[in-house]
Amino acid sequence: MKQIAHGEGGAPSVLQLVDAPVPQPGPAEVLIRVAYAGVNRPDVAQREGRYPPPPGASPVLGLEVAGEVAAVGAAVEGVRVGDAVCALTNGGGYAEYAVVPYGQVLPVPRGLTLAQAASLPENYFTVWTNVFDRGALRAGETFLVHGGSSGIGLAAIQLAHARGATVYTTVGSPEKARACERYGARVAIEYRNEDFVERVRTLTERRGVDLILDMVGGDYVERNLRALAVEGRLVQIAFQAGSRPNADFTLLMVKRLHWTGSTLRPRSADEKAHIAAQLREHVWPLLEAGTVQPVVFEIFDLADARAAHELMQSSRHIGKILLKVAGD
Ligand SMILES: NC(=O)c1ccc[n+]([C@@H]2O[C@H](COP(=O)([O-])OP(=O)(O)OC[C@H]3O[C@@H](n4cnc5c(N)ncnc54)[C@H](OP(=O)(O)O)[C@@H]3O)[C@@H](O)[C@H]2O)c1
Repeated sequence: MKQIAHGEGGAPSVLQLVDAPVPQPGPAEVLIRVAYAGVNRPDVAQREGRYPPPPGASPVLGLEVAGEVAAVGAAVEGVRVGDAVCALTNGGGYAEYAVVPYGQVLPVPRGLTLAQAASLPENYFTVWTNVFDRGALRAGETFLVHGGSSGIGLAAIQLAHARGATVYTTVGSPEKARACERYGARVAIEYRNEDFVERVRTLTERRGVDLILDMVGGDYVERNLRALAVEGRLVQIAFQAGSRPNADFTLLMVKRLHWTGSTLRPRSADEKAHIAAQLREHVWPLLEAGTVQPVVFEIFDLADARAAHELMQSSRHIGKILLKVAGD
């Protein structure tokens, strides 16, 4: 089969289409003939050598796929050869075939294409476990998500809005602001021109928000503490601007705040299967009803993975970037 290799790592130009053996599924794994694979910011970090795969995971890039089940291991339940599925992989998505633990496989939501389905797993697993599980967002609460136009951001905005929260977000351009407001953000704050702390305090009549999902870090750490309400929660999923901030943490005590975070990839197969079951129950019906929509920005051929990574690093995209491996 063909797959994308990144050799010793580095710039997008290291991404090359190479031949490789088709992986074989273990007893609890499913082999998927990949139609589309999602491109995610963690793939960029892995390509650059800053995010090594966890022990035992495929060294090949690619955290999500959609396609057709080609084979199943002896212990697999509920997934059959020929099923149209999407899946959160442990790596190995940038390839014609990928193996995935069966608990991380979900049906393609009714009415969605394979391309749309490939855009879901990494973002919706991450958003569910961080916003609704760790962050415990409830209907009627206020929620600020940074990076609203990212794959993660648009999933968080739509799900939080659909589940009855008031959503604010930060974005880098007016075009991104309009997109986020179209998908359910009450207000998108253009962080290059406005101080999100002041804006959030005004929007909430100086109370602050109940929950923040942050992927920025750096000087946002202290500013997030200022933007939260008393007893507010902050969930960290990345530190794009640095994880060693020069910050005053006094507000953590004074406002009795809760600060947590997680990374999805190293979590166990059982934990990922548990998140998949939650998505199937709470999120798949919203996707099938059209209440929550996949947002696909651009699709590249697998052989053009380099261009897909260049686009992601330019941050021009709004929503998801995909690789077409076989197509539907
Ligand atoms: N912890 C986990 O389990 C997990 C899983 C998946 C992804 N992630 C992280 O989640 C983030 C989003 O991933 P993605 O794949 O959806 O990537 P993406 O589409 O490339 O999004 C990156 C986003 O970061 C935003 N950003 C950068 N600097 C910002 C700032 N100063 N203020 C506000 N926003 C800022 C960008 O917004 P502008 O272009 O508008 O500046 C962009 O929307 C990444 O950092 C990724 O590493 C974490």
